[in-house]
Amino acid sequence: MTTLGTPLSPSATRVMLLGSGELGKEVLIALQRLGVETIAVDRYENAPGQQVAHHARTIVMSDPAQLQALIEAEKPQLVVPEIEAIATPMLQQLEDAGTVRVIPTARAARLTMDREGIRRLAAETLGVPTSPYKFCDSLAELQAAIDGGIGYPCIVKPVMSSSGKGQSKIDGPADVQKAWDYAMAGGRVSHGRVIVEGFIDFDYEITLLTVRAKDAGGAVHTRFCEPIGHVQVSGDYVESWQPHPMAPAALQKAQQIAEAVTADLGGQGLFGVELFVKGDQVWFSEVSPRPHDTGMVTMATQWQNEFELHARAILGLPVDTTLKSPGASAVIYGGVDARGIAFDGVAEALQVPGVDLRLFGKPESFVKRRMGVALAHAADVETARTNAKEAASRVKPRQA
Ligand SMILES: Nc1ncnc2c1ncn2[C@@H]1O[C@H](COP(=O)(O)OP(=O)(O)OP(=O)(O)O)[C@@H](O)[C@H]1O
Ligand SMILES: [Mg+2]
Repeated sequence: MTTLGTPLSPSATRVMLLGSGELGKEVLIALQRLGVETIAVDRYENAPGQQVAHHARTIVMSDPAQLQALIEAEKPQLVVPEIEAIATPMLQQLEDAGTVRVIPTARAARLTMDREGIRRLAAETLGVPTSPYKFCDSLAELQAAIDGGIGYPCIVKPVMSSSGKGQSKIDGPADVQKAWDYAMAGGRVSHGRVIVEGFIDFDYEITLLTVRAKDAGGAVHTRFCEPIGHVQVSGDYVESWQPHPMAPAALQKAQQIAEAVTADLGGQGLFGVELFVKGDQVWFSEVSPRPHDTGMVTMATQWQNEFELHARAILGLPVDTTLKSPGASAVIYGGVDARGIAFDGVAEALQVPGVDLRLFGKPESFVKRRMGVALAHAADVETARTNAKEAASRVKPRQA
């Protein structure tokens, strides 16, 4: 039996989110609805999730001493990493000492915090199909890897980066130096290591949301949401929809890969498994051991969205991954570099049929920062995509 307490009382079930952006904010709201006491941590004040949590804390999460001090002071039962840039060896240490349970596991957080851990696990330990790849520490090594078999076209990514930062495609020898320099400028920590991947000429790519949650008997079971299709521009998601139709053989392979990877990472929670598909061929790309940005569409399409699924799974509660309606999401970018911006056109956006909006409340806007998302449900995915994009385009962020 799972018991939940009363927040702000000695019986409270306390959960700490490490990272409180738009995804963390929705996890926090889902936890709040179950009466969980929440602690929202981020690197800056008034992060989206900090605005809806019981407690807000601002620290450098990649600093092991700060992370340890905060967890020991707040004593949450669960620590939920929502970003990659965290001192994961410290999480491992605290989990090993029995101080806290890390979601889904400290090992999963560590292996997915850079591209190398998860890629080597998937391709070399689990034997899951991936693009051909090499890790390189210099321009010379990069050139040698390409000449030695990766070939052209290929993609270079800093080992530590997300949302396409520092990532570029190399079409021929003339692009190699530029791609290396771009990767060096765009990585999260400047330690100069990249992955170079052979370019997969896929028909489409999906996120397969995969949930490890307890069933009635208490055993952990794996469940899948309907595939989510998405469009990426420069490695950043701009649009997603659900369901994305798949041939039965490809769907079966996708689920087998997702099951293999998430079972190895273990624990309980929701994972976003990114896969490339061509005909009946499926390649594993990467996995988030947490809700996925392309999965925001589930706020319009599922009875339990990905944040509610994550909240339930980590608390040991049953989950339901069924689709409610086809739908789509479209990103609203800041368009300006400014603090405390205003959004015009919200009413006009909400006039589009079947549309809803999320404005994240980020204190500072950048031209290419994701500030909100338009969501649409409709009888079919095409209509939903059209309506979500139309609604997103009607929202006009500007300097206040
Ligand atoms: N080997 C590849 N072949 C073809 N396309 C690729 C390859 N690797 C990446 N891409 C494209 O670039 C996108 C971003 O790549 P990836 O997911 O590795 O980067 P990321 O920075 O982790 O992005 P995010 O954080 O948004 O998931 C992919 O969704 C895909 O569209
Ligand atoms: Mg990705």
